[in-house]
Amino acid sequence: MGYLENFKVVDEVAIVSGGSKGLGRAMALGLAECGAKVVVASRTVSLIEETANEIIKNGGEAIAVPVDVKNPQSIEQMVAQVVDRYGRVDILINNAGIAPMKKTMETDIEDWNDVLNTNLKSAFLVSKAVARSMIRQRRGKIINMGSVLGHMVSGVSMPYCVSKAGIAHMTKALALEWAPYGLNINCIAPGYFETEMTAEAREDESHLKFLKFKIPFKRFGKPEEIVSAALFLASSASDYVTGAVLYIDGGYSIW
Ligand SMILES: NC(=O)c1ccc[n+]([C@@H]2O[C@H](COP(=O)([O-])OP(=O)(O)OC[C@H]3O[C@@H](n4cnc5c(N)ncnc54)[C@H](OP(=O)(O)O)[C@@H]3O)[C@@H](O)[C@H]2O)c1
Repeated sequence: MGYLENFKVVDEVAIVSGGSKGLGRAMALGLAECGAKVVVASRTVSLIEETANEIIKNGGEAIAVPVDVKNPQSIEQMVAQVVDRYGRVDILINNAGIAPMKKTMETDIEDWNDVLNTNLKSAFLVSKAVARSMIRQRRGKIINMGSVLGHMVSGVSMPYCVSKAGIAHMTKALALEWAPYGLNINCIAPGYFETEMTAEAREDESHLKFLKFKIPFKRFGKPEEIVSAALFLASSASDYVTGAVLYIDGGYSIW
């Protein structure tokens, strides 16, 4: 009864970090199509404006707010701007991320800090900034973008794997801590999708061959194939789901 209604996010205020490109862009467009007011947030102003303008052109509502998720001050400014404008935040997708392909012996402390600060520390800081508003409302949906590489590992990009394992664990810790306030904290763990992040892997013939062998569906995901999972976790359809890690990976993590 009314099951379809449960998937609606009409007039809900949703922040998508890294919403200018790839998976973030697809989720921003998808949430807007389903009625959310979307805040597109990342560093490159021209690109966040492009995504926000596309949403508006499609009849939706969006604003572009610059943020560097490595910078705590920038996060506070971004969230303050959103709360000033809309008075609340209902949905947060911690999606901004980087994945440099470097072997450990070529990885220096700056590389480590860059990956851990962008992919992991940022989720702590943005979630905390947004939870103030969500706890007041006694409702809120936080979706952290993890990865199959938070569960399994790859031979390149050790700090990336560590950051995504941290994301899965942070998801569970926050889910437990914030359940009494009615917040849902979940994680989407994508496999390999066709975005800029995986361009290098797709151009490397032997890596591509391995991935196609490993992925039971024998192909990369398309960014729009992440959107339904995000809508489920962002909407009332998932009200009894918290602390979950949802793999969207064409079967990559099965074996
Ligand atoms: N693509 C995949 O196959 C895959 C697989 C597993 C997990 N994931 C995860 O899914 C998320 C999105 O990946 P994607 O493939 O869509 O990546 P992408 O196409 O490279 O886009 C990354 C986004 O993050 C933003 N970003 C990076 N550093 C930032 C910072 N310091 N502050 C604010 N924004 C920042 C980028 O914008 P600016 O550079 O302009 O700031 C961009 O919008 C990431 O967390 C990634 O780890 C992706």
